[in-house]
Amino acid sequence: MAKNERWASRVGLVLAMAGNAVGLGNFLRFPAQAAQNGGGAFMIPYLVSLVVMGIPLMWIEWTMGRYGGGLGHHSTPGIFQSLGKSRAWKYLGVLGLLTCLGIASYYLYIESWCLSYAIYSLLGGFSAEPPAAFFDRITGQAPNEVFAVSVPGLVMFAVCIGINIFILSRGVAGGIEVVAKVAMPLLILFGVVLAVKGLSSHPDADPNMVESPWIGLNYIWEPDYSQLGNPAVWLAAAGQIFFTLSIGMGSIHCYASYLRKKDDVALTGATTAWTNELCEVVLGGAILLPIAVSYLGLEAVRQSVAGGSGFGLAFMTLPTLFNNWGPAFAPLAGFLWFGLLFLAAITSSLAMGQPVMAFLEDEFNFSRVRASWALMGMLLLLAVPVAMIHEQGVFSDFDFWVGTFALVVFALLEVILFAWVFGIDRGWEELMRGSELNVPRFFYYVTKYVTPAFIIVILLAAVFKPSV
Ligand code: PFF
Repeated sequence: MAKNERWASRVGLVLAMAGNAVGLGNFLRFPAQAAQNGGGAFMIPYLVSLVVMGIPLMWIEWTMGRYGGGLGHHSTPGIFQSLGKSRAWKYLGVLGLLTCLGIASYYLYIESWCLSYAIYSLLGGFSAEPPAAFFDRITGQAPNEVFAVSVPGLVMFAVCIGINIFILSRGVAGGIEVVAKVAMPLLILFGVVLAVKGLSSHPDADPNMVESPWIGLNYIWEPDYSQLGNPAVWLAAAGQIFFTLSIGMGSIHCYASYLRKKDDVALTGATTAWTNELCEVVLGGAILLPIAVSYLGLEAVRQSVAGGSGFGLAFMTLPTLFNNWGPAFAPLAGFLWFGLLFLAAITSSLAMGQPVMAFLEDEFNFSRVRASWALMGMLLLLAVPVAMIHEQGVFSDFDFWVGTFALVVFALLEVILFAWVFGIDRGWEELMRGSELNVPRFFYYVTKYVTPAFIIVILLAAVFKPSV
């Protein structure tokens, strides 16, 4: 029975939680967001958001999850109700499920591109075909067409959904945890190889290189303090913290609900957050932009990032740039890059699917297998419009409302529930139960006052500046 599911080991739990957080957000969204929002100056709002929102919310979600899980609830409707005691909280908890499904619908599509690109790279496809042509083939993109579909692209999308469902159907310890234990170390290995190779190349040794890769690294870290007074930069930084830590979506609650009553929450929660930050700031910042800058020059990369996200650089530009690394290494480099993205993506998409499965199991008494089929049906239904709509801007609007706005609203609800309805004193006691980490009292006050106030300000900024 699903209700008795638990993580099998502490290492597995940490890797699964890190896999949940480390995703496309770390390797594609972060470098682009940092570069677009003032480079090094972005890091100040980013770190402030991490300390006053990211870490406290991480602890809140872990604590709520373990508490609800102890009472047999594994998704936010049940978990919210167990803390809030009223049915209204249950309905509010449903928002978390909708966010997970909404993000999954486009996240899985990009995940399927990563898989296609990884295979095609390994086969040496990009030595002959420009990545843009390959992209058009797998998305069915054609000039001036709003709706179009590519059969191979849809098939890969369905394959990706199928792989996720298969893993989820094997359960928390037997599926998610096993995959995380393999995927996370591999991901880090791939990332380190690419970062070292990219940063150790030198224009003197490679005639195609126009600039040192360190200029690309510096691009993120070079401070532009003039941006600090700009609310849009603060909103972007807060949005990135939410997205990258998987906060405000009900996903962490769900994973934490499979903890045992005395499992450590404070230390393991903080470990997950810091692992994610390492994979974001250190690895995520050291691959995409440095490699792109070294072959294209800073100005070209600046323009490319300003006009969009990191997606263009990652999928259209990098495969060609790898060809500079020689015919023997280029296919492998492409495989490492897209393999890394695929591993990062799948350990996150599993984390979006599990809450929905848990909801069906808890509330409707579905068996795990039946819940897997139901989720598969929902995702396939969502997949068709996602794969067909090519209207420019739809993706980024959707990413804003589902991937930023909804998360902030949900986070506000949960901090009110935890600190004010359930009560910060009880909440604090829950957090510290079984903990090896003595969380400074400072966070007690931050969680009660600063976090909600900060979220409200961010929310107001988002409402009045929805185009950011
Ligand atoms: N944190 C993931 C990333 O940075 O890509 C995204 C994510 C994971 C979103 C899990 C939602 C979720 F439930």
